[in-house]
Amino acid sequence: MTLSNRDKVRNKNYTLSMKKTILSGSTVTGDLTLGNYIGAINNWKKLQEDYDCLYFLADLHALTVEQNPKILNQRTYSFLAQYLALGLDPQKNVMFVQSHIHEHTELAWILTCLTPMGYLNRMTQFKEKSEKHVKNINAGLYTYPVLMAADILLYQADVVPVGEDQRQHLELCRDIVGFFENRYGPGCFKLPEAYVGKMGARIMSLQDPEKKMSKSDDNDKNFVSIIDDAKKIEKKIKSATTDSGTEIKYDPENKAGLANLMTIYSVLSGKSTTQLEEDYVGKMYGHLKVDLADLVVETLRPVKKNYDDLMKNMDYLDQVMVDGADRAQLKAQETLKKVYEVTGLVRHPKKR
Ligand code: TRP
Repeated sequence: MTLSNRDKVRNKNYTLSMKKTILSGSTVTGDLTLGNYIGAINNWKKLQEDYDCLYFLADLHALTVEQNPKILNQRTYSFLAQYLALGLDPQKNVMFVQSHIHEHTELAWILTCLTPMGYLNRMTQFKEKSEKHVKNINAGLYTYPVLMAADILLYQADVVPVGEDQRQHLELCRDIVGFFENRYGPGCFKLPEAYVGKMGARIMSLQDPEKKMSKSDDNDKNFVSIIDDAKKIEKKIKSATTDSGTEIKYDPENKAGLANLMTIYSVLSGKSTTQLEEDYVGKMYGHLKVDLADLVVETLRPVKKNYDDLMKNMDYLDQVMVDGADRAQLKAQETLKKVYEVTGLVRHPKKR
């Protein structure tokens, strides 16, 4: 997914500041994980220097599956606090809640009217989710990628960090830019690309080391959440799947579970995996697990403390939401205004 020279020139014309824009959304389901922690410490500081960064909580996307209203409400605060506890700086980054910016749903509708159902029928995530939620195959689940396209296009994002599961949605977003421009001509949107920067170590599921550690995993044992208490962390790490061998050796092909634990150990301790192999000569997997559990608990202790303090300070969280929404909305309004103009919708006479 790369840009042609023509697209590069074209994107340049939309750039507001000197920096490129990166946009990252997170559905408010589950809790952030150790994988997110590692991604955060490795990337956020650098990203905020190199890009205009926007992070938002996709609460509208969460509604595509049934949510308990109280929990959704509480979790939106919790997610914001988790991001802040991980060190995301709300001054240097724009953090906001998706539903606070009504432009998302407005643009989504216009794009929905341009997206052929045939394209949505091909989305593998829709197929998977409809199999999983047979009793709730709602139209929102189906048009989910169009809302996601609106999220991206509203902010003229240059790059979007997406996991494998979201790649097809980003492709669709690029197709939607094409549908829009075929009908209305160019001038409204940048063509976004997948962010391919180094995201650092890939942290895998604890029970199934072939798949990525995911916050929305149904099995709670697959991930360590950044706000798990010490007991839970110990239990999860000690019960992580490993092979039946005994030698502590970094071998992702044949000892995927152990290699994953060693990767986590290595990132958190700063020791290389070779160093770890030397440290654990003649020792058992169990020894490594005990030490790793301690290390994870100690690493996450200040994060959890930070999180607990933030959750007691709702006024502060509200303030962060308001600041973020104010800043995000300026950009969103600008894009939507152009879109309304070219589509022929009459602007409210008092708002012209
Ligand atoms: N669908 C994404 C996920 O589940 C979350 C998301 C919503 C998103 N809108 C986005 C990600 C826009 C990137 C850009 O992970």
